Amino acid sequence: GKRVTTRTLQRRRDQGQSISMLTAYDFPTAQILDQAGIDVLLVGDSLAMVVAGHETTLPVTMDQMIYHAEMVGRAAKHAMVVVDLPFPEGQLGINRSVHSGARVLKETQCHAVKLEGGAEQSRRIEAMVTAGIPVMAHVGLRPQNVLVDGGYRVQRDTEALVADAVAAEQAGAFCVLIECVPSDVGRAITQAVSVPTIGIGAGPHVTGQVLVTPDLIGMTTGYTPKFVRKMASVAETIAKVASEYKNAVADGSFPGDDETFA
Ligand code: KIV
Ligand code: NA
Repeated sequence: GKRVTTRTLQRRRDQGQSISMLTAYDFPTAQILDQAGIDVLLVGDSLAMVVAGHETTLPVTMDQMIYHAEMVGRAAKHAMVVVDLPFPEGQLGINRSVHSGARVLKETQCHAVKLEGGAEQSRRIEAMVTAGIPVMAHVGLRPQNVLVDGGYRVQRDTEALVADAVAAEQAGAFCVLIECVPSDVGRAITQAVSVPTIGIGAGPHVTGQVLVTPDLIGMTTGYTPKFVRKMASVAETIAKVASEYKNAVADGSFPGDDETFA
């Protein structure tokens, strides 16, 4: 089918249809998700945690994001691919953000960037969009702010959160991602803006939903937030296969005749 674009997403919102979005960090996973018909793939800076094993999203660098964005961009034939601006590319000077956003468009086959923050980011969003870089705003819980906030908490200041989303829309953001807010806030934001909204832990009254794929498929271990639906147990599958392989090597049943050159 045709490529999902900013216009496709706006049409979905205008026609009351949903948008499915998932994170992807590598070629094979992105290919599977793209072929399954996921609308938007996000090369999230969550890769710092779920791929690289860091405690927060802060350590991942722009060069590392580009490396993963190259893989996902090569795999996606239908999905729109959005790439996170990693800390502090969206916090330093505005020119730096335009430069880093342009790197995504020039060096990878991806289509847009995501930037954490709302009203305080309006001038940055405007500069990037003016430069030809589609921006998805990210309001509510902002993982890049975790050390200032002192942890990951549900964000409940409806008035400020709605103002963030409205400011992002006015600055030219094509979509607003909303993380970890009560359902009422997700609805209030979605009613206040005319661009599509995509929620993660923002309840059902938004245009679309996003999850971190390793959480969805049960690849991450340990704590997972309340908003995650774990729909498979891939970690258990891998553990079981690894242990069966180990036993087959130990007892000599692998390799068999079929797996051996005569
Ligand atoms: O990095 C990421 O995976 C994200 C999602 C949580 C939306 O920003
Ligand atoms: Na992110």
